[in-house]
Amino acid sequence: MSNRTMAAGNWKMNTTPAEGKALAEGVIANAGTPATKVVFGAPAIQLMQIKEITAQHEGYYVAAQNMHHEDKGAYTGELSAAMLAAAGIDYVILGHSERRDYFGEDDDLINTKIIKALAAGILPIYCCGEKLDIREAGNHEMIVGKQIEQALFCLEPEQMEKVVIAYEPVWAIGTGVTASPQQAQDMHQFIRTQIANQFGEGIANNTTILYGGSVKPANAEELFGMPDVDGGLVGGASLSAENFVPIIKAL
Ligand code: PGA
Repeated sequence: MSNRTMAAGNWKMNTTPAEGKALAEGVIANAGTPATKVVFGAPAIQLMQIKEITAQHEGYYVAAQNMHHEDKGAYTGELSAAMLAAAGIDYVILGHSERRDYFGEDDDLINTKIIKALAAGILPIYCCGEKLDIREAGNHEMIVGKQIEQALFCLEPEQMEKVVIAYEPVWAIGTGVTASPQQAQDMHQFIRTQIANQFGEGIANNTTILYGGSVKPANAEELFGMPDVDGGLVGGASLSAENFVPIIKAL
């Protein structure tokens, strides 16, 4: 299980370059050589700067928060997979619920982005998760199952091996409400079974499945203690070393 684990911070649209540098350096100084992979999901303007820092420390990586699906061209404001790869960026967060809600991304588009990222040598962190009304109606497995199927099932096994999945129930993101450890475990186990059915047990057992949604120092250990929860994709609590380091150490 240990080589599946990861603590990924999603800084979203927070931190200036100076603040981001201080944050990454503060985390590294306090967490030391981590027992897990640690990923900083930095704003685009900081990616190369954070990569310069993480490149000097074992166990630390940098993630972009989004990427365009076309190779190049007239897409003002966008970044391509090739640009990220040339800058040495390790991961890209794809399909975050904020991208789906505010920028209209759906699983077909996200699937295209995943394929482009993999072709460029960047590892996707694919986000899925249901909204509150879906959970309340008891349809969460059906909806997340569909997301996984649409975004991932057409991959080749050797592509799927490189994908990290983040289950992020939308009702838990930035709300302070966390899925219970059992709710997280149940969904992670369901996702792992879906992956096993499509790609085989070997790939499923090696797939990193992160939980995201109001992960904090107070709940990290309990969540990460569940057998199919391999770590976290952490928003708010990744913005200070004081909060993020205990989450790293919980792994
Ligand atoms: P949160 O965000 O930890 O602030 O809830 C998680 C995420 O959106 O990835």
